[in-house]
Amino acid sequence: MMFLHVMMMASVLSGGSAEVVSDFREKCADIFANGAPPTILHGHQYRQICQTLKNKVYYATLYDTDNKISVYSAYKFNKKMKCDRKHIWCIEPQLDNPGEEPNMVPDRSHQSPNQAVSDDYKHSGFDKGHLAPVYLASSQDCSDATFTLTNAAPQNLHFNRGKWRILEEKIADELTMQCLSKKNTAYVVTGVVPGKRKIYEKRNVNVNVPSHFWTAYCCLDHNKECQFSKGFIGRNRNSKAPDNITVNELETRLENLYKVKSFQLFSTKAFFLSSCIIC
Ligand SMILES: *[C@@H]1O[C@H](CO)[C@@H](O)[C@H](O)[C@H]1NC(C)=O
Repeated sequence: MMFLHVMMMASVLSGGSAEVVSDFREKCADIFANGAPPTILHGHQYRQICQTLKNKVYYATLYDTDNKISVYSAYKFNKKMKCDRKHIWCIEPQLDNPGEEPNMVPDRSHQSPNQAVSDDYKHSGFDKGHLAPVYLASSQDCSDATFTLTNAAPQNLHFNRGKWRILEEKIADELTMQCLSKKNTAYVVTGVVPGKRKIYEKRNVNVNVPSHFWTAYCCLDHNKECQFSKGFIGRNRNSKAPDNITVNELETRLENLYKVKSFQLFSTKAFFLSSCIIC
C-alpha cells in the first residue's frame, strides 16, 4: 500500500506522461511479448522511448544518444493497411529537455545534441531507414508515428528500397497468413548494429552508419508461447537478401556484435506477471 502510494506520488510529480521513460514497462509494456522488452543495453547513452503521437503510444524504441540512431524499435503487427507516407519527420523533444511534452514534434531544428535531425541526413546519400516500418502500420496515425528520427538509422538506399523492403513484405504476408489468421498476436522487433563510420565525415555530423539491420518476430499463442518465430540480419549495403535464421541464432549473433553476454529478443514466459506477485 505504502509502495503504491509512493508510486502514485512519483507519477503525479513527473506529470505522469513522460514518454522518455526510465523503464518501458511504465508506459508501454503491452508492446512486448509477455510484457518483457528485449535486452536493454546499459550505458549513459541509452534512452527508452514509448513512441507517442496525439497522446497515444504506438511502439517502443531503445535509442542511443551517442550514435544518434535507434538500437531497436518493438511493435505489434495487427493488420496490413495501405497508409500514405507522411513526409514530415519528427523528433523526440524529451531527449533534449525532459520537461518537454510527451508527443513527438515536427523536426524544425538544424541540430540536436542527443538525436539525429533531418539536416544530418541531407546530401549524405543514405535513406532514413525506418525500424518500425510504414509497411506494417495498421492505421494512418500509426504510420505517421513511424516518421520520427528516433525510429531511424542511415540505411543504404538500394538495400532499403530493395532487399529490405522485400523482407518487410514477406514478413507481413507470413504473419498475416500464419499468425493473425489464427487470432494469435504478432510481435516484431527491428534493430541495427552500430558501424565504424559516421554519416557525413566531412561535415562532422555525429550520426553512426549501422553495419547491420536485423529484425525478428514471434507469434504468441493463447498459452503465451512463441508458436513460431524467425530472425533476419543483413549487412547495410546493396547485397544479398538478409540471412533467414532462428531467433536463437540471431540472439547469438547479436551477443557477438553488441559484445554483451546475453541478448534476448522475446520472453516466452509470463515474465512480467510472475515477477509482479509481490505487488
Ligand atoms: C525463411 O525461411 C523459411 C524456411 O526455412 C521460409 O519458409 C520463409 O518463407 C522464409 N522467410 C522469409 C521472410 O524469407
